[in-house]
Amino acid sequence: MEIQYAVREGKPSDLHKVAALYRTVASRSGGIAREADEVTEAYVRNFIEKSLESGIILTIEDPENPEVLIGEVHTYNPGIKVFAHIFSDLTIAVHPDYQGKGIGKILFRTLLRETESKHPEIMRVELIARESNKRAIEFYKKLGFNIEGRLENRICDKTGRLEADIPMGWTRPACRLWV
Ligand SMILES: CC(C)(COP(=O)(O)OP(=O)(O)OC[C@H]1O[C@@H](n2cnc3c(N)ncnc32)[C@H](O)[C@@H]1OP(=O)(O)O)[C@@H](O)C(=O)NCCC(=O)NCCS
Repeated sequence: MEIQYAVREGKPSDLHKVAALYRTVASRSGGIAREADEVTEAYVRNFIEKSLESGIILTIEDPENPEVLIGEVHTYNPGIKVFAHIFSDLTIAVHPDYQGKGIGKILFRTLLRETESKHPEIMRVELIARESNKRAIEFYKKLGFNIEGRLENRICDKTGRLEADIPMGWTRPACRLWV
């Protein structure tokens, strides 16, 4: 039987659950820009607060243990007038044991649907993925994001190897005719 994953809004009391998820993802996959020891409470508290204030934060609980989060995505407005129409600072993390099961897609589709229905001021959602994270880049393309350039040598990994970061953007469907 196919498992149904329920998406719910993140809340301040998710702090430790989100931090645990991010530390696991950072230590195992290297997909997110931080290393595990950089996933501090202050970092997680900051993005939960900003997302609740001026953006979207969504989570999925482990169906067998609601105390554990297996997926989270968040984004928020930068708080500058010229960027009032943008959701930025987007990060998504799916627990390594649950990747490839459609959880990222459920989270992202919900995020874009909520952007369209609850945030009429938002015309654009932007994110950045390191070039070697082919899986994430393909994932974003399928969701309607376009590659918008290439930031050379922006990422420096543990071994000192430099690689490009790839900026990507999604435009609200009603605005696509304008660009
Ligand atoms: C990238 C990530 C969010 C995708 O979430 P996910 O739950 O694993 O992805 P889904 O199962 O929903 O799959 C969605 C799409 O991702 C891609 N994908 C998933 N598994 C893949 C794999 N093993 N190889 C290549 N592409 C894959 C496919 O395009 C898939 O679309 P399809 O189902 O139509 O084939 C997740 O793998 C993750 O958290 N990775 C580590 C953190 C990270 O990289 N965050 C993004 C930083 S920019």
